[in-house]
Amino acid sequence: MTTKGEEMRIEGWKVAGAFVLFLLVGVGVGVLLMSITERQMQGEAFPLRIAEVPEDGVDPELWRANFPRHYDSFMRTREDYGRTPYAGSRGDYDKLEANPFRRLAWAGMAFELEYNGIRGHYYSQIDQAQSRRTQERSQPGTCLNCHAAEAPNLIREMGWEEMSRTPYDSLRDKVHFGSSCADCHSPNTMELRISRDAFTNAMERRGVDVSQATRQEMRSYVCAQCHVEYYFRGDDNILTFPWDHGFQVEDIERHFDEYGFADWTHRETGAPMIKIQHPEWELYTTSTHYAAGVACADCHMPYTREGGVKVSDHWIRSPLTNLNNACQTCHSMSESELERRVLTAQTRTAELVAVAEAAITDLIDAIVDAQDAGVSDAALEEARLYHRRSQLRWDFIDAENSTGFHSPQESARILAHSADLARRGVVSARMALADHRAAAAAGASPE
Ligand code: HEC
Ligand code: HEC
Ligand code: HEC
Ligand code: HEC
Ligand code: HEC
Repeated sequence: MTTKGEEMRIEGWKVAGAFVLFLLVGVGVGVLLMSITERQMQGEAFPLRIAEVPEDGVDPELWRANFPRHYDSFMRTREDYGRTPYAGSRGDYDKLEANPFRRLAWAGMAFELEYNGIRGHYYSQIDQAQSRRTQERSQPGTCLNCHAAEAPNLIREMGWEEMSRTPYDSLRDKVHFGSSCADCHSPNTMELRISRDAFTNAMERRGVDVSQATRQEMRSYVCAQCHVEYYFRGDDNILTFPWDHGFQVEDIERHFDEYGFADWTHRETGAPMIKIQHPEWELYTTSTHYAAGVACADCHMPYTREGGVKVSDHWIRSPLTNLNNACQTCHSMSESELERRVLTAQTRTAELVAVAEAAITDLIDAIVDAQDAGVSDAALEEARLYHRRSQLRWDFIDAENSTGFHSPQESARILAHSADLARRGVVSARMALADHRAAAAAGASPE
């Protein structure tokens, strides 16, 4: 028999139970709605089509009405969020002051004038236009390819060769946007697309048809339009990626050797040098993450939740400022442990970079000593080749912007070869000098 009091309590439990059930159903419906919105966001790229964007539109403002969230996060690339230990934002970070070896390494070419830390995509055109490398050296229009949203339009209007060989200075006034939605999206469908032909051409030569790329591949390919090593080929300065033999540093070196290419002759050593620039994509393809199918966008454009909607973060920046979204989707480690792993890889890489730099400095000194003593060019050819080969490897890691994180073991491998080649070069230059002295001594002796 239940007493009145007990009945009341049972009644109470029933009401509470119903309430909890009601809540659960409510939450369930909410979750369902959220995932429907998410699917809509991912499925149809146009949740609301308010404004038509013309095929050749480049001003990000044109997309604003349709995609206010994406526009806002994209415009945050204007923000200076400060340095991380090895990278981060700050346009006024002077990489030549930070490491004087770089000036020695690039003696005789434009990079010895100015070379800075990088910041958000908003500044892509501004920083190029203001650099002493375009202010004080005459550069070709090709430089605009990765630094102006208008570049594909200019190429359509002027033709690829004409745009490339036209002096940078005559095109300055035609470009106003460093980066745009159109770099990575087709304005009609918002699908990811390749807007820069140099990437398509280079992949084609590797037998890869990028129009058949999967969505996950596109989430890296859009970045590989620009974050790659490049050179200007032939009299028309055609933008070319040296990938015919592959993406590894030895493959790239082979491409340049076969073409007989040098960016410049080193002022101190007379060696025919190659300047490597931002090989983010190439280094990345040698990594564990790449092998596991992780894309650039997974870490640099992670999903964020905004009012129940999953949005790819268009504030592209250092993941160290955003470890929670950038890494914890896949890794169940604490932020401090993730940060420790990144910094461990970077500190080790930086140490090996310094080892290579010391070896290359000795090599430059050894060649200069030999030259001063009158050793012939023929006798120094081998040492100069060592200079080219060792510095190309050092530059591959120094110019790559993750300080080794994108592929730690490959970075260590490359730097070990860099130092080894430089030390062999020192031996070669010293032997050439010794031979020269011996010959001079023999010639000077009375018999
Ligand atoms: C697994 C995560 C991950 C992937 C995938 C990844 N990166 Fe990074 N990236 C990082 C981390 C971590 C850093 C180091 C940031 C720092 O030092 O502040 C970094 C640094 C960079 C930087 C320099 C950032 C700065 O603040 O100056 C660039 C540029 C970059 N990555 C581009 C790329 C490109 C392009 C790809 C694809 C080819 C890629 N990353 C793939 C994690 C990743
Ligand atoms: C294939 C694409 C591409 C081309 C072509 C290109 N750049 Fe860049 N540039 C980049 C990327 C990516 C960065 C950011 C990463 C970095 O600086 O390492 C950058 C950064 C820069 C910066 C800012 C950092 C610094 O170096 O001080 C300047 C200035 C610059 N480029 C000038 C030039 C000039 C001059 C040319 C033509 C000789 C040129 N770029 C051609 C992709 C390109
Ligand atoms: C540097 C390349 C790049 C630029 C520039 C860029 N996006 Fe994206 N965008 C991406 C990537 C990568 C994704 C993820 C696509 C995927 O996963 O299929 C994406 C996704 C999107 C989506 C699909 C929904 C989502 O959040 O994943 C929309 C909408 C979008 N971007 C709008 C814009 C707008 C608007 C601009 C300019 C203000 C812009 N994007 C600039 C690379 C870019
Ligand atoms: C059209 C060429 C282009 C494309 C496409 C491009 N980038 Fe960049 N990126 C640049 C240039 C140029 C800079 C340097 C801007 C500056 O410092 O003025 C840069 C800077 C960066 C930085 C440094 C930001 C900071 O705060 O320090 C990161 C990280 C980065 N890019 C990652 C990516 C990723 C990831 C993708 C693909 C989703 C991508 N980029 C696509 C040209 C490009
Ligand atoms: C999309 C999923 C994904 C994201 C995002 C991701 N990782 Fe990973 N990570 C992996 C996978 C998968 C592996 C390889 C695991 C294996 O094969 O053992 C891995 C391996 C690693 C390793 C060991 C291998 C190496 O390269 O040193 C480290 C360290 C690491 N991740 C750190 C990070 C950091 C830091 C971030 C964020 C900046 C990050 N990961 C973002 C999936 C991811």
